[in-house]
Amino acid sequence: MAKVKSKFVCQSCGYTSVKWMGKCPGCNEWDTFVEELETPKTANKNESKTISTSSKPQKLSEITFENEDRTKTNISELDRVLGGGIVKGSLVLVGGDPGIGKSTLLLQVADLIARQNKTVLYVSGEESIKQTKLRADRLKAGSDNLLIVAENNLDRILAHIDKVKPDLLVTDSIQTVYHPEVTSAPGSVSQVREATGILMRVAKGMGIATFIVGHVTKSGSIAGPKVLEHMVDTVLYFEGEKHNVYRILRAVKNRFGSTNEIGIFEMSNRGLLEVQNPSNLFLSNRPEEAPGSVVIAAMEGSRPVLIEIQALVSQSSFGNPRRMANGVDYNRVIMLMAVLEKRVGMMISDQDGYVNVVGGMSMDEPAADLAIITAIASSFRNKSVDPETMIFGEVGLTGEIRSVSHAQNRLIESSKMGFKKCVLPKGNLEGLEIPKGVTVHGIETVEEAFSILFGR
Ligand code: TYD
Ligand code: MG
Repeated sequence: MAKVKSKFVCQSCGYTSVKWMGKCPGCNEWDTFVEELETPKTANKNESKTISTSSKPQKLSEITFENEDRTKTNISELDRVLGGGIVKGSLVLVGGDPGIGKSTLLLQVADLIARQNKTVLYVSGEESIKQTKLRADRLKAGSDNLLIVAENNLDRILAHIDKVKPDLLVTDSIQTVYHPEVTSAPGSVSQVREATGILMRVAKGMGIATFIVGHVTKSGSIAGPKVLEHMVDTVLYFEGEKHNVYRILRAVKNRFGSTNEIGIFEMSNRGLLEVQNPSNLFLSNRPEEAPGSVVIAAMEGSRPVLIEIQALVSQSSFGNPRRMANGVDYNRVIMLMAVLEKRVGMMISDQDGYVNVVGGMSMDEPAADLAIITAIASSFRNKSVDPETMIFGEVGLTGEIRSVSHAQNRLIESSKMGFKKCVLPKGNLEGLEIPKGVTVHGIETVEEAFSILFGR
């Protein structure tokens, strides 16, 4: 008889300890330890059977990885984030807050794949099949190859998989699945890990592409997707604000593609729609001729997106002026304000400064520097930047402008969106093809940029 041992597991990061602790040394969160009983080894008796199928050492030259192994969902925003489609036998974790649209997206994907004559099994642990049917009706999803089952018991899920032999499996959500032989509650770290591990082996062994939904939770009671990130092939996060219709799908890990790509969706009454021209979206409510508003062509993965950066600078009523950065790095903003003061002679140390990236986007590339510094200067001087001008470039501490990557793509995108003028690093001019009707100013210093933009 195996003796059941107990351990304490942090429900936030998965750190294990033999004794209870108030603060987790792994993630520094308080009160996240929960006692879990260790699984008797007998629970894993069948494991080796499922993985014995394809484990034969092979020469690298013998291994082929053809494009056919990927299936396109035909939702191009998703395909791009996945690295070109769903890879056979891969395990994709889709995380996000409850209600953000994970089930909606995956049901749409399930239906689109099923329409390509593939069998899809959608395991719903949260909603009854009737609820899923209602959702499917709303989404006009009704392929006969799409099978829905409401089930939480992992053994029974595995039996269904064995019978149906799907090409695509969706488990919605992993927190509701339980392994009958693991004693802790569904949603606990042990359960979620065990279930994911088993689904992983099945996915690899049988070549089933698998999507797992994981809720991001703030409380310590249910294990979030964080503890699963290292196990799966791809981790996608679905983000957005509930009262806003736009949703951003971001890859934070991808064994089969880049993690820089994002997909943008709009939640409509017929499900999620792709936003194929995000520049249009981010510039839609732009105030023209407003001081403090500047447009930059930012790179989101391989795609240039025009984004508006806004700054507000005003006399501070406190001894210690406030600085705030939303969507850009706070320290970068502080640094750029110091450059303005020292190199351009703009006395802003007694001013409050706020910088915001419109549309809830975030930017971490240095190419945004010139746009940020221009927005701050524009607000301080109360002079607007010509609304048909796009700006990018990295700013150095001496006030010099340094060249950045993808200048050509940024320029083409801004010209497509009707921008007539572009202020960019001089170093980027070499070999740059300038689109018709666009004037380009290559600059070397912040001061030079300002004389073009504000015409001293
Ligand atoms: P859902 O996919 O259930 O979220 P999650 O699985 O991430 O918890 O999405 C729920 C929200 O989406 C809900 O507020 C209703 C809304 N919604 C629409 O606006 N349009 C639709 O066509 C559907 C299916 C849902
Ligand atoms: Mg759901």
